[in-house]
Amino acid sequence: MSVPIRVAAATSALGLRLDADLPPLVAALRSRGVDAEAVSWDRADVDWSTYDAVVIRSTWGYCERPASYLAWVDAVEAVTRLDNPAAPVRWDTDKRYLRELCARGVPVVPTRFVAPGERATLPERGHFVIKPAVSSGARDSARYAPEHHDAAARHIAALHAGGETAMVQPYLSRIDEGERALVFLGGMFSHAMRKGPVLTEVGVLDNDRHPHPGLARHTPTTAELDLAAAALSVVPGACPLLYARVDVALADDGSPVLMELELVEPNLFLADNPAALHHLAELIRTRAGG
Ligand SMILES: Nc1ncnc2c1ncn2[C@@H]1O[C@H](COP(=O)(O)OP(=O)(O)O)[C@@H](O)[C@H]1O
Ligand SMILES: [Mg+2]
Repeated sequence: MSVPIRVAAATSALGLRLDADLPPLVAALRSRGVDAEAVSWDRADVDWSTYDAVVIRSTWGYCERPASYLAWVDAVEAVTRLDNPAAPVRWDTDKRYLRELCARGVPVVPTRFVAPGERATLPERGHFVIKPAVSSGARDSARYAPEHHDAAARHIAALHAGGETAMVQPYLSRIDEGERALVFLGGMFSHAMRKGPVLTEVGVLDNDRHPHPGLARHTPTTAELDLAAAALSVVPGACPLLYARVDVALADDGSPVLMELELVEPNLFLADNPAALHHLAELIRTRAGG
């Protein structure tokens, strides 16, 4: 009898309880004869070399300790196949990649990065957003009006005190029409969802916001698909990626702009997309050598 392929779906204590994609993904892998299990990335007692592949799923909390997370990423890749691989993961953990995409002609949300020690010039007109360069789940992010300059400056000072680089962006009000999340599996477009705005209140920092309110299926436009392809073409490392999520918002003129490229641990909305779930399980099995 042949030995089954072993796959770890890397998660976290919170992910084990709350990641809706995790149980169906593990079940879909097991139904293909893969010896799959969900394992918290920060457990000290795991020998990752015993897996044929480690698939990054809900490794939530990595933003609070990016250095130890990236050390884990490198350590795992040194002993087995890591999907997504370390190079794109490292690149994607810091939204300063938006600069590179912008320089390569990809339309992105206009962004100013303010590193610790630098002074921010805040917009005099229109609502704007302050958020950290390393983030997920709208962590430490808030929307401000020009009359809130003092609160916004305090927000930036708090990020700097934690050693973090702040981002200043205009608030894209057409996000009310939905932020688009285009999911790619094995380098091919798979499915897309639309979600409502997260930063609905002005001047409020609230880390308990739902990161994906009002989810609905979305059929991307050609312009959105073109933007996603252009963004993905800039990602470093060997292609194709196991998965990618390209988050797109609409600028004031209605043209799509990149909000972020999610290559680390995006919610892929698999529970709502059974065909994508099984396609991903099959990709994982074959990439792991099965
Ligand atoms: N410039 C912006 N304009 C409008 N909404 C924004 C803007 N930046 C962030 N948001 C809102 O905050 C959420 C989280 O921001 P995002 O850049 O996606 O960071 P994260 O990595 O934390 O998901 C977005 O999904 C969106 O609803
Ligand atoms: Mg996001």
